[in-house]
Order: sequence, then structure tokens, then C-alpha cells
Amino acid sequence: MFGHKKKVRIILTSLLFMVFIFLIVGNTTPIQSTDEYGTIDEVEITVLLDNYPNGTLQNPWGVSMLVETNDYTILFDTGSEPNALGNNSIALGKDLTQVDYVIISHEHWDHTYGLEYVAEVKPGVTVYVPYNMGTMIRTEIENLGFDVVRIHQTTILSPGIAIIGELYGPPYEHALAVNIANIGLVVVVGCSHPGVENHVEKAVTDLSVDPYLVIGGFHLGGAGQTIYAATTTSLLELGVDYIFPIHCSGDGIRAYIESFYPEYYREGCVGTHLIIDQTLATQVNSLGVIPVVAALITTPIICRLKKKRSN
Ligand SMILES: [Fe+2]
Ligand SMILES: [Fe+2]
Repeated sequence: MFGHKKKVRIILTSLLFMVFIFLIVGNTTPIQSTDEYGTIDEVEITVLLDNYPNGTLQNPWGVSMLVETNDYTILFDTGSEPNALGNNSIALGKDLTQVDYVIISHEHWDHTYGLEYVAEVKPGVTVYVPYNMGTMIRTEIENLGFDVVRIHQTTILSPGIAIIGELYGPPYEHALAVNIANIGLVVVVGCSHPGVENHVEKAVTDLSVDPYLVIGGFHLGGAGQTIYAATTTSLLELGVDYIFPIHCSGDGIRAYIESFYPEYYREGCVGTHLIIDQTLATQVNSLGVIPVVAALITTPIICRLKKKRSN
């Protein structure tokens, strides 16, 4: 068999290879087993910024959502205007000094510029970014004083909360998945440059949990009926029950899903407020009735369609 020197050489080579892989992948905690993922009982999502208008709330181009569980307050993207993020947060009764961490979906300005406001109210907080985010924008975020953590693979942040590993659009982009007990995954996306159906599919594959709801930008402005149909079919085949296309989704996909699949479509805009609570679903289920989203989710009734440019 092997001589002693050869064995030592093989062991050293293996160790060097492992160190190399660690440096490439980064200091993340990739999912080991879906058993580790866990569940949470309830999540609240508030759309702090979106270009789809609602009353007196500010609606500059971009998106930002506050994701609240019993234990964590997560800011997902920060929109394009720091003042608008601050003003809307206050108007919606949300205190961003309570944010535990920030997730930036991808490097585009309409998701990152609001970090200037976050730096004022929550200096030094952890900001999770795609591992392959451009160096320039990552350095800018670091220069705002944040603790930037790069994520490559699907990573569990705490029980029931995971970042879905980055996909390439361009640019590289990741998403958030919250696992609500007895309901399934609530998937939060930024622009979906790699395709919203691909983010959801990766979440389902990596986490082995069925999807329930997806909200965010789908980046399909002007894509056309064929793409609208293919995207919607993919989401429905994956098992998504409710679809909230906002931000850069485009009026076309909103109109398409609303027309052909109204039971799956939900209109979202700045100020949209969702409460997804497993205890409500459990109560409804105990009566032998399929959970109805209206019982779980509230949305504002003022939400006009308004044509905006896509990013
Ligand atoms: Fe965007
Ligand atoms: Fe984008």
C-alpha cells in the first residue's frame, strides 16, 4: 500500500484542498440537513418601500420589506432613497432601530441605497450579501460601517429562517425563505434576475419544504404573454399558493396572473402588510377546511397600478 511519506503527502494535500474550498465558499453555515431547518409559528411582512403606490406613503423606484418573527426583525433590501425608507417606516409604525440584521438580495442601487438610513439608525448591524456581489458595491457597504457577511450556499440563519443560496442573473442574487409550521415556505425575493421560479425551486430543493407564498420583484416588465404563462405555470407546479408580484415585476405579469389565476394572485404595493400565522391555519384545518389566505393575510385596499420603468 502507501508508504508513510506518501500517506503524509495525501493528508496534507487533502487538508490544503479543504482550506481552499473553505476560502472559496466563505465563512457561511451551509445547510447540512433539512431536519436542522425547523419552523416558526408566525411571520409578519410589511412592504416599507415599493414603486407601486398606496395613499400618502412614498413610492420611489425600489423595494424594501420588513420581516418580523417572534424572535427576529429582518430588513430585506432597503430601496433607493434613505429618506423615503425612514419616512415610510415611521408612517407604518416600524422602528428600524430594532432590526437584527439586513439581507441585501443583490447589488442594484434600488435595493442598496437605503442602507445609508440604516447606517444612521442601526450602525454596524450585520448585512448579508450574495457571496459574488461586485467588489465595489460590497466595499461601499462595508465603508458605511456594516458587518458584511457573504453567503454562497443556502444557509440557515436561525430555526425556520434561511437565505436561499445565490443564483446568477446577472447579477448574483439570493432570497429569503421563512418556514411557517403547517403552512410552508414564505419566499421573499428582490428583483429575481435569475428568475423567480428558480429562486423558489432552489428553496424547495435545498430545504425540502413546499412553498406557500412568494412576494417581491419578478423582473418581467414587458416580457410578454409566453414568459408570463411559463413563469406562472412554474410557480404553480412548484406548489405556490399565493403570488405577490411587486416592484420590477411589471404590470403585465400582474394582469396575467390576476386574469388567469385570480385565486393565486394577490396585489401588493408599498404598505402591504401580511400576517401568516400557523395557529390560524391549524384552527381552520381542524375544521376540515383548506386555509384561506384572506383569513391569514391583510392587504391595503388602496393599491393602484402605475407604469414604472423596470431595472
Ligand atoms: Fe430592483
Ligand atoms: Fe435589480
